[in-house]
Amino acid sequence: MAVYEATASAPVNIACIKYWGKRDTKLILPTNSSLSVTLDQDHLRSTTTSRADPSFTEDRLWLNGKEEEIKEGGRTATCIAEMKRLRKQEVEDKQPNEPKVKNHPHHAPQILRSDHLGLQLSTHHVHIASFNNFPTAAGLASSASGFAALVSSLAQLYKLPVSPSTLSLIARQGSGSACRSLFGGFVAWEQGTLPDGSDSLAVEVAPQSHWPDMHALICVVSDDKKGTSSTSGMQRTVETSPLLQHRIKHVVPQRMADISAAIRARDFDKFAEITMRDSNQFHAVALDTEPPIFYMNDVSRAIIALIVEYNRVSVEKGLGRKAAYTYDAGPNAVIYTLKENVKEIVELILKYFPQREGAFKDVFGLLGGVDVAKVEG
Ligand code: ADP
Ligand code: DP6
Ligand code: CO
Repeated sequence: MAVYEATASAPVNIACIKYWGKRDTKLILPTNSSLSVTLDQDHLRSTTTSRADPSFTEDRLWLNGKEEEIKEGGRTATCIAEMKRLRKQEVEDKQPNEPKVKNHPHHAPQILRSDHLGLQLSTHHVHIASFNNFPTAAGLASSASGFAALVSSLAQLYKLPVSPSTLSLIARQGSGSACRSLFGGFVAWEQGTLPDGSDSLAVEVAPQSHWPDMHALICVVSDDKKGTSSTSGMQRTVETSPLLQHRIKHVVPQRMADISAAIRARDFDKFAEITMRDSNQFHAVALDTEPPIFYMNDVSRAIIALIVEYNRVSVEKGLGRKAAYTYDAGPNAVIYTLKENVKEIVELILKYFPQREGAFKDVFGLLGGVDVAKVEG
């Protein structure tokens, strides 16, 4: 008996223009467009294996070795169902002489028997096992890499010749930010206007090779699970924050245009200014929520102060900003900077946030796009 199994990895992405708010919670359609940088595979990633077998009696999911319930009608169930639907479509499209079964579901087994590849896969249940090589649900975008890896592994299992944008439509229904992890480099999630969500997808703004000197320094302030999940936090913001309404109407559209232009022009100073302002506004909107949400802590704020001072000195010298902090829904800092400044910034952080012996050894060795540091206040 053949075993059908496929493994795929996806990296996290860290937004410069933050997604925070849904206009449709079921389809996961956002209240604003967003833009992020996808980090290298080698560092923060999810690796997911999907297996289909006729003996399986239900779809099941293990996350970091522990079984998670797949809720009926929930996000994971939706992603699996959508991928099975694409597989079915693909098999039917490859059988041009066979009658289409779309309107006659009771004929489906006949068609599937005639699939000469013997891949009746879309009818089998799947078992999915995923591992994150970094803290889960701690504000380091595990839902982004997680759902991107999940749909990618199913796309491989089902041998679907689909584009990253098509897969992004499905990953989006698992976790909004996941749609951006289907592309490397600089990626926009266009909010779209259609009620069915078919134009709410990820598009590449520029590949990583466009600006290979762009680096991200990950400062892990805490790897604890966050108190308020992104999903519930942003819903509360939509329901209670007047500042969010101002942000989505009057701030984000211009920022999306400006940061895309800065990326195209490799204008780090502008990129940094917009990234830091958008992180600040996202956390302001969280604070404007009732009851308020605090994702940053004192160490997060101390890192902001350090980067602000570092940039002030650099601007004074006429060099422009050299670093940009950004925080997702958690206390952990991501610092974007150009390769030439990585060493200096790591030394600066080391000076103000002393590490345990050897804790930084890896940091200097990693030049592939992202460096990880554990920061203690
Ligand atoms: P984060 O800041 O890490 O993205 P979220 O609150 O947005 O935190 O989402 C965390 C949730 O995402 C987890 O509780 C889990 O349900 C889901 N998730 C995380 N990693 C994976 C994965 N590898 N595969 C499937 N789902 C995952
Ligand atoms: C602050 O994508 O995790 O990281 O769609 O409900 O799963 P759901 O939320 P999620 O939210 C991410 C919020 C953010 C900003 C961003 O990544 O754009
Ligand atoms: Co998330």
